[in-house]
Formats: sequence, structure tokens, C-alpha cells
Amino acid sequence: MSRFLKIAFCVMLFYLIIVLTNYLKSEGPVKQSWLKELPRHLDRVVTFLTATDDYPLPQSKLIKFTTLTPQTTLDKQNEDDPDKTQQKSLSPDILSVIPVYGSSVYQRKKDGVLTSRTDIGIKCEPLISQDQDETQRIESSLIDYDKIPLSPEFYINVTTSCDKYIQSRGFITEVTQEERDFPIAFGILMHEEIELLERLLRAIYRPSNFYFIHVDAKAPKSLLKAVSDITNCFDNVHVTSRLVKVTWGQYSVFQADLNCMDDALKFDWKYFINLAGSEFPLKTNLELVTILKAFNGASLVVGFPFGSVMWKYRMSRIGNVTGFTFMKGSQHIVANRKFIEFLRTAPEALEFAERLKPALHPHETFYNSIYFSKHLKIPGSYNGSAKSLRNTIVRIKLWKHAFPSCSGKFAHDICIFGIKELSLLTKAPHLFCNKFHEDFKPIVLDCLESWLFDKIEQETKTGKTQVNTTYYSNLDFVKNQIR
Ligand SMILES: *[C@@H]1O[C@H](CO)[C@@H](O)[C@H](O)[C@H]1NC(C)=O
Ligand SMILES: *[C@@H]1O[C@H](CO)[C@@H](O)[C@H](O)[C@H]1NC(C)=O
Ligand SMILES: *[C@@H]1O[C@H](CO)[C@@H](O)[C@H](O)[C@H]1NC(C)=O
Ligand SMILES: *[C@@H]1O[C@H](CO)[C@@H](O)[C@H](O)[C@H]1NC(C)=O
Repeated sequence: MSRFLKIAFCVMLFYLIIVLTNYLKSEGPVKQSWLKELPRHLDRVVTFLTATDDYPLPQSKLIKFTTLTPQTTLDKQNEDDPDKTQQKSLSPDILSVIPVYGSSVYQRKKDGVLTSRTDIGIKCEPLISQDQDETQRIESSLIDYDKIPLSPEFYINVTTSCDKYIQSRGFITEVTQEERDFPIAFGILMHEEIELLERLLRAIYRPSNFYFIHVDAKAPKSLLKAVSDITNCFDNVHVTSRLVKVTWGQYSVFQADLNCMDDALKFDWKYFINLAGSEFPLKTNLELVTILKAFNGASLVVGFPFGSVMWKYRMSRIGNVTGFTFMKGSQHIVANRKFIEFLRTAPEALEFAERLKPALHPHETFYNSIYFSKHLKIPGSYNGSAKSLRNTIVRIKLWKHAFPSCSGKFAHDICIFGIKELSLLTKAPHLFCNKFHEDFKPIVLDCLESWLFDKIEQETKTGKTQVNTTYYSNLDFVKNQIR
């Protein structure tokens, strides 16, 4: 045994003891969740051991291990506080009280009155510009309020009249000719937190685009019904035709993504982008169109070579597959049509996907390996000399090891944004950010949303975006793409 392996073994043993101690101390559902989380803990150890300097920790955090649905979250709160029982499912009348953009429903603790950010007197500008006194004042005033997430039942009720729903919830129904000429398809994976999904959809929704939402087949029936009711209000928004039960790290996550692509391929669009329901855009649709045009046909997929321990741990069971440049990376892609067509129709891609079935995190290898396999000659894929494309502009996702100063909290080593991150988010060249929890520091998403819709309003007035296309068209993957 090499010295490295001995050290590795000791670290793993130590970690397991900690996990086991915690497990034995815990009870009921917590106990179950420790068991469920075991593969994740192991994965973390392996990743730690094989990490290089800026090695992102394990990805695929699409799946969060909580057993609570949005509705039961409310139920639980209600048990603690009987006063809230009447809020179990918010009445649609709330729509007339709460402004649509940049403001979710808050409830004052002392008397249960429902209110909004602006009623509490919170302006977003000082938070975005990092005015410290104001930030402190706001953080302390928010202690008196709870965020009340909108429930599936609420959406089922408000979508009974689609016209009213679309109008009252502020969906954008007009687009510029430029956007019309450049349709984008979005695949969205979601499993809970319907209000987050609606806010993401509303931010990216334009009549010229296409949307395919995969709802985890494990989700409560009411959630699926609510999402279907929302999608039924639009011609170009769909629940995917096949739904799978999604399990962290396994092929099912990948399958959900592929289901979105299969449905998307029936329509005509220029780019495909996959998202999770808990993400949010940093660009308006017109900005996105401008940026994707600057890509000049290129796709963008993160990728870097596997470490050998990582390879054995995640991939050893796939057998002898040859012909690809095997890469590890993230599952977030921005892909042109040729790339998606290749994934879903080329025999070598189909076989590769099949062989990946027993692997851990197959979707963090598949897109990445194909994107880097130059001999496949897929137009728009990578033909440069860089051995890896790591911190690209697809997402802002702040990993604990690289960004320990997250002002929100960490969930599975990813920063759930706090107020201090607002400044970073609003300045970044990235297209999307990851991620938010519905009930954690809701002011952050409120302000980001308000900032985004202000940009849209500005665009509508001036007909122009602020995008620096020189920056995007000079990126390595754009200049060095397969033509
Ligand atoms: C929807 O909300 C309205 C207004 O609060 C209420 O009167 C109605 O009963 C609700 N409908 C359903 C199906 O829950
Ligand atoms: C894998 O397959 C290739 C081509 O079929 C072959 O040349 C190579 O020896 C195989 N490797 C192993 C480890 O079986
Ligand atoms: C646009 O981006 C380029 C390349 O990154 C940079 O040199 C230039 O200063 C930027 N222009 C503006 C107006 O920010
Ligand atoms: C890839 O790059 C090489 C040199 O950098 C160039 O010769 C080749 O034509 C490029 N291939 C494609 C398909 O664009």
C-alpha cells in the first residue's frame, strides 16, 4: 500500500466514524437522512483526496435531501404557531396586495399580517451597493418577519383563469424582433419549492422561447398538478412527456435532463440551456440573446481531466469505452442544436450514455467528454489547447472551498446566497446563478429579481442592452471552436 493510500484510508475511516457517531446520536427522519447521505459523504472524501487547487467539490446538487414538501413546511410551522393556521394556503387575493416583481410574501410575527418588502421599508439599492449600516438595519428588521412561500394549492387556484394568472403574475408577453429571431430552449429540473420555479420561469419566460420542466416523479401529486396547471397556461411551456424518480448522483438525474432534450428537439431553437428550479438568471432574455450571438455558434460545457482515484471511484464500472476524451465537469451546459442532436441521435453518444448507467454522476462526464472529443467534429465544440475549462460563465456557483466567506449558508458545500453576494451577482458576466432556498434570506432573491426586472424595464425604454459583446466573443471557447 502506498503512503498516499494509507493516509487516504485513515482520513476515510476518521470521516466514517464521525458520520456514524452523528448517525447514532440522531433519530427518526434525521437517521434516515444520514443513511441516504452516506454516498454523498463518501463522494466528498474521495473528491477531497483527489482535489487539485481549484477543483470544484462534487456537483449535481440538483437534488436536495429533505423530506418536506412546500406544503408540509407550512404545516409544520402551523403546529409551532397556531396563529398561522389560516395561512396554510394563501388566498389568491394576496395578488392584489403584494407587488409582482422583487417582493415575496412576508408575515409579521407579532400579528400575522401579510406584507411585502416595500411595506417593511426595504430598498434594494443599498444592499446591492453594500451599504453596511443599511444592510445591518435590514437584517435586524427582517427578524420580525417570516417568508410565506406560495404553495401548490395557491397555484392550482390562481391558474383557473390563465389570462388573469399571466397578467397578475407579471409574465412578459411581448418580445423584440431580435429575440423572436433567436429562440432558446430551456430544460428545468425541479422537485419542490414551486414559488422558486415560478419566479425562475417568469424571469426567463418570453413567447419566443421553449420551456421543458421535469418534475421529480417522487414529488407530491399536488406539486405536479400545480406545475402542470402553470404550464397549461402557455403554448410554449411543457412538463416533460416522461418523468423519472430522481436520485442524487445516479443516472436518473441525467435521464431527467435527457427527457427535456428529447422533448425540446421537436421544436425549432438555436440554443439549449439546462437549469435547476432553484437557480436564477443574471441576464435578461435580450442580453442572453446578445451574448449567445457573440458565442458565434460555440457551445459551452465545463470540463477538466479526471484524477485517477476519482476515475476509479466514479467510473470503474462502465467497462472499456474507448474513443472519447474523458472529462469530468459540471452538468450545466449551454449547447447549440448540433450538440444536442448529436447527444440524442449519434450511435456513439447513445452507446456512451448506456454504458454510463452504473457510473456515479454520469451527467458530469457525458456532456463534458463529448464536448472535448475533437475527433467527433461537432460544430461549436471545443477545439482549443486548454486542458481544462473550469470557471466558466455558465453559472455562479460558490463552493465552500473556494468561497468560504459566503454570507448566507452552505448547503452541501454550495453557498445559498446571502445579502453580501448581491453585489457580486449583479456585476458578474455569468449567465445564471445557483442557488436559493425559498425560506432562507428571501430578501436576496427579492432584490435580485427587482434588479433584473429593472434592467428589463430599462431595455424596453431604450431598446438597448449593456452587454459588452467584445468580452464574450473573445472567450477562449468561442475563438477556438470546431467549425
Ligand atoms: C380560490 O380562492 C378563492 C378566493 O380566495 C376562493 O374563494 C376559492 O374557493 C378558491 N378556490 C379553490 C378551488 O380553492
Ligand atoms: C479496450 O478496447 C480497445 C479497443 O477495442 C483495446 O485495444 C484495448 O486493449 C482495451 N483495453 C482494455 C483494458 O481492455
Ligand atoms: C469590454 O471587454 C473588453 C474585453 O474584456 C475590455 O477590454 C473592454 O474594456 C470592455 N469594455 C467596456 C466598455 O467595459
Ligand atoms: C482545430 O484547430 C486546428 C489547429 O488549431 C485546426 O487546424 C483545425 O482545422 C481545427 N478543426 C476544426 C474542425 O475546426
